[in-house]
Amino acid sequence: MVKIFCLFFITLLSINLSAQDKPLYKDANQSIEKRIEDLLSRMTPEEKAMQLNQYTLGRNDNANNMADPVNDIPAEIGSLIYFSSDPALRNQVQKKAMEKSRLGIPVIFGYDVIHGYRTVYPISLGQACSWNPELVKKACAVAAQEARMSGVDWTFSPMIDVARDGRWGRVAEGYGEDPYTNAVFSVASVKGYQGDDISGNKNVAACLKHYVGYGASEAGRDYVYTEISKQTLWDTYMLPYEEGVKAGAATLMSCFNDISGTPGTANRYILTEVLKNRWGHDGFVVSDWGAIEQLRSQGVAKDKKEAALKAFTAGVEMDMMNRCYDNHLAELVKEGKVSEEQLNEAVRRVLRVKFRLGLFENPYTPVTTEQERFLLAESMKIAEKLAEESIVLLKNEDKALPLSNVKKIAVVGPMAKSQWHLLGSWRAQGNAEDAVSIYKGLENEFEGKAQLQYAEGCDFEGDDRSKFEEAKTVAKDADVIIVCLGEKAQWSGENASRSTLSLPQIQEDLVKELHNLGKPVILVLSGGRPLELTRLEKLSDAMLEIWQPGIAGGNPLAGIISGRINPSGKLSITFPYSTGQIPIYYNHRQSARTHQGKYQDIPSTPLYEFTHGLSYTTFEYGDIKLSSDKIRKGDKLSAEITVTNTGDMDGAETVHWFIRDPVSTISRPVKELKHFEKQMLKKGETKTFRFDIDLFKDLGFVNGEGDRFLETGEYQIIVKDKKMKVEIVE
Ligand code: BGC
Repeated sequence: MVKIFCLFFITLLSINLSAQDKPLYKDANQSIEKRIEDLLSRMTPEEKAMQLNQYTLGRNDNANNMADPVNDIPAEIGSLIYFSSDPALRNQVQKKAMEKSRLGIPVIFGYDVIHGYRTVYPISLGQACSWNPELVKKACAVAAQEARMSGVDWTFSPMIDVARDGRWGRVAEGYGEDPYTNAVFSVASVKGYQGDDISGNKNVAACLKHYVGYGASEAGRDYVYTEISKQTLWDTYMLPYEEGVKAGAATLMSCFNDISGTPGTANRYILTEVLKNRWGHDGFVVSDWGAIEQLRSQGVAKDKKEAALKAFTAGVEMDMMNRCYDNHLAELVKEGKVSEEQLNEAVRRVLRVKFRLGLFENPYTPVTTEQERFLLAESMKIAEKLAEESIVLLKNEDKALPLSNVKKIAVVGPMAKSQWHLLGSWRAQGNAEDAVSIYKGLENEFEGKAQLQYAEGCDFEGDDRSKFEEAKTVAKDADVIIVCLGEKAQWSGENASRSTLSLPQIQEDLVKELHNLGKPVILVLSGGRPLELTRLEKLSDAMLEIWQPGIAGGNPLAGIISGRINPSGKLSITFPYSTGQIPIYYNHRQSARTHQGKYQDIPSTPLYEFTHGLSYTTFEYGDIKLSSDKIRKGDKLSAEITVTNTGDMDGAETVHWFIRDPVSTISRPVKELKHFEKQMLKKGETKTFRFDIDLFKDLGFVNGEGDRFLETGEYQIIVKDKKMKVEIVE
């Protein structure tokens, strides 16, 4: 009997002991919220403050953000920017956090995986020209998989800053000038990165950036002031964030810019009142690199401590490379300037994302070889398809393209053999050697069909015309001249503004000389922004914008040139007639005198409008059919249009649906994109495109407080030059 009792007692004790050994926060069967509270209850203010900091790890080759790797990384650090792609290094540092910190809280490793990790695909501005969010979602899923398998849990992407000034180098990183387009791709990329569940070992947490208004940087310069009225904040800049939050984005990044006197990083209205209280976001906000300490330069904080106080109380939970929170937060709590509950709430948000990522259960990254992770056949296919659909045929006079019956092709220009520049900025772990140059793509495509002759012609910039003669000699001997021009990778991206959208004079002069030879000239343009092509357009028979296409590089382009592929890309940003027209974008508000207010020296219309893009086939549009032309506010409305492929090649067409509200309480844009759909049409085929109109969302407007209204009266539904009226009655 005594024996049995002893056994019972010992069993009870051991159950109790193991329960004590394994605190609740380590029990994966408990709810995340319970685990967070348990963990919080065990943390000291210092440990809490450390969770809110991000340092770097690994070789940092980001020219804008140089920092020495922190050799002695504290075991309690909340996050690291992980510049390496070696899972072993991550695991070594993670081991320290798991085993040497008192509570064993895993580190979250972040990185800029912007347009691919190793399998680099086109820059976002180009991606948007595909009008194919499904494909973008797939590409982001590839990036997520490569990154997570390499030790990255969290990407600082997507960038969804509506941008209307091509001089701003970061225009390359977003999805163009339109709020709705940015919103659609914001959702697509969040879903691609995060999948259904970020705890999977192939998904990463997304980060919507740079919240908010960074794209309005004055004069296209980086890190400067942005003047944004509340009305414009809401109707132009907020939508992509609102939609990204709804899609479940785990985190956001605060911006560098000063929004009409209150920097984004110290802006309680956007960071707390809207994001947390109104939209209910329960993840966390990381500052941009140095954005907290920069509150001093922006003139709203006298020192780092005050900067920490302002950013923290505004709603920035994590400090990226400012060393403000680690040095001052615990002290601010002691002084009572930050309450314990405020600190808890910030830590809660960071821990929530860590729990959701499954980091407590799986802190380490399985070690795999690069071959198992990178450049997989399926990933390469997606990158190539996206590059193909991003390419925009800007001009094609007298069907100069596709090439037919050519025997000798001259390939000229500084971009022709470059691999490096095709990757663009933010190439993550991309390798230039993986990229197919334009020349190589053409060589693959025309092997056995036509002979290629190459000359560099000139450098990207400078005055050295000594290589012009060689280029002319090569070109004279050819049936067609393909001139490959554009921007160096470092001319766009962060801190890479330009004062003009023109290409350097030397590149234009090269085209002039080649044009004078009287042969067909095909211009291939690669770069990270819309260009001023007014003079080059006159000197060429066809022009193709390939953006920075990533590693697929010249392959899809060559397919388009040969006619194997029918181009389907359409511009996500306006190409101005002249840089002097900036800002120029399709959805400008209505003006007082539509017949006046024009430039005296140049046209007032752009060279290529938003959504411009040619195909090798022709599409004929039917009339818009509305389900009703008079409806009540609560009714359903839909619109349809038929499109027929009337040419002699299969091709994809994107139908863009715009709306217009001619008379409203506020002055609204001349037209606003509300829906788009891309479909493949075989030659001779007719397909119906449909827009299910949500009256409130699609026809209504937001005011300066973000409240949405739908007014009675007339509205227009617009597709190309087709227009239908609908009246909303009470
Ligand atoms: C950029 C961010 C980027 C961060 C981390 C900053 O300078 O503005 O877009 O995510 O650096 O590299």
